[in-house]
Amino acid sequence: MVSIDLAARIERVLFTEEAIARRTHELAAQITADYTTGGFARDAAGRPLFLVCILRGALVFMADLARAMPVPVEYDLISVSSYGNGTAPGAVRLVKDLQRPIEGRDVLIVEDIIDTGYTIEYLRRNFEARDPASVRVCTLVDKVARREIQTQVDYIGFELEKDAFVVGYGMDYAELYRNLPYIGVLKPEYIR
Ligand code: PRP
Repeated sequence: MVSIDLAARIERVLFTEEAIARRTHELAAQITADYTTGGFARDAAGRPLFLVCILRGALVFMADLARAMPVPVEYDLISVSSYGNGTAPGAVRLVKDLQRPIEGRDVLIVEDIIDTGYTIEYLRRNFEARDPASVRVCTLVDKVARREIQTQVDYIGFELEKDAFVVGYGMDYAELYRNLPYIGVLKPEYIR
């Protein structure tokens, strides 16, 4: 196993473990209120909110968000990938689909970060075609500075006004740093 001091490669911490936990609990409380007394629930059968984790970056946030919610939730996981260079900008492909149907369900898409907006727009269209009761979006980080298409984001943990390469708490660079418990900016010498 390789031994790398991941923390030593971080230039500065943007959101500490404590700040993320605090914000996650605030979001969970807001979401719970919206779907219980707030009138957001549209599922005619009254079933729990259906969280969808976008692999792989959102795994850590989703695990904490779901556990911060004091009401029953169900969840499933989906994996998408951006096409490489040479294809249409923003082209997204489905790598692993949901295992469960979302027809008639109140769906909350859970993302770690929204960047250009293409992934979330692809997923929203893909999900709408399955006839859910409602679809909303929650992201821990919203990199507004990089947005290329307009997309509605209903719950935002933190906004990033400036474009910075962030890693940690699920987010990677070349598959590393996902297990850092906080979100930070990588030192430039570690970006190739
Ligand atoms: C990241 C992130 C979003 C997407 C956002 O995933 O988790 O799904 O990019 O980018 P966009 O708004 O420009 O479409 P990534 O492709 O890095 O995969 P990963 O989650 O497996 O790390």
